[in-house]
Amino acid sequence: MATAQAQPNIALIKYWGKRDVSRNLPAAGSLSLTLATLWTRMKVEFSADFDRDRLLVDGEVATAMLPRVSRCLDRVAGGNRPCALIESHCNFPIAAGLASSASAFAALVVVANQACLEAEDIFEPAVLAAANSRTTLDLARLAGAASGSAARSLFGGIVELAASDDNIDVSTLLPSQDWPLRVVVAVTERGHKPVASGDAMILSEKSSPFYSSWVENQDHDLQVARSAVKTRDFDKLAAVSEHNCLKMHSVMWTSRPPVVYWNRGTLACMEAIRDLQSAGQAVFFTMDAGPQVKAICQPDNEALVMKTLGEVDGVEAIMNSGLGSGACLLDDS
Ligand code: DP6
Repeated sequence: MATAQAQPNIALIKYWGKRDVSRNLPAAGSLSLTLATLWTRMKVEFSADFDRDRLLVDGEVATAMLPRVSRCLDRVAGGNRPCALIESHCNFPIAAGLASSASAFAALVVVANQACLEAEDIFEPAVLAAANSRTTLDLARLAGAASGSAARSLFGGIVELAASDDNIDVSTLLPSQDWPLRVVVAVTERGHKPVASGDAMILSEKSSPFYSSWVENQDHDLQVARSAVKTRDFDKLAAVSEHNCLKMHSVMWTSRPPVVYWNRGTLACMEAIRDLQSAGQAVFFTMDAGPQVKAICQPDNEALVMKTLGEVDGVEAIMNSGLGSGACLLDDS
């Protein structure tokens, strides 16, 4: 039995659209921050004695997610693999736009790869050889096949994912210690999201009149964000990130039927962040497939941002984090 941990990541230049649905390849690149203090821990045990896969999420049987998890295990351990017991624990709300699938699938590929090696007597030599030789990028590609954003959680700090027709490339653009950005998360709703992001982005491609220009402009936004990161230019990163986020939500809103993840609290948080910006504070917002608002700021104004968002009507909880490392095995494995 092995255990791995991965942190969610927050995209500043977003992934919204697939060039190949069957391989789950993204239509364009993306750029994200891997967090430090929010995590998913996964245990996997393969056994010839099990007659089916079983998934427990925070101690509860989780049947809805199981097929996707089983398919991910097939990619790591082969279609003829023994069945597995998978146990997942998460220290933040699941499926509410906080990238829980990113940390879950990133942890899953790392732990499943190790679990194969630990149960060597029940795997074929070819499966073991593959598991033995996988690089972090190989694991990121396996995670990305399960959930596009999960590929980025294999790496720490500020991460860029490049997309081509054949595959993805993922790497750390800047290690976490090189730019101590802080992320404050304002939770405005704890429930599950109404539409899964994967389904919603396929709908956007089919129906939003803005979809093609969204995809066409991703390279430009990525280039601006990359150069802002390299020069630690907070204002430049803020401007391109907010613009990119609002474009993604415009694509969602103009899909048919419209996909609207925001609530009143989301808008109130955005307004509070605008007020902080007007008062000269270095802070910007981003939102994903959910109503939570992520405010990116710096160590010296983090307390102010937390206090300000905590007082906004509709905010149920505040979390904060610095930038952290990529998915890894834990010692007890
Ligand atoms: C809005 O990675 O959840 O968070 O590949 O279908 O599993 P699938 O999608 P997923 O989409 C994440 C979308 C986003 C933006 C982002 O993280 O880049």
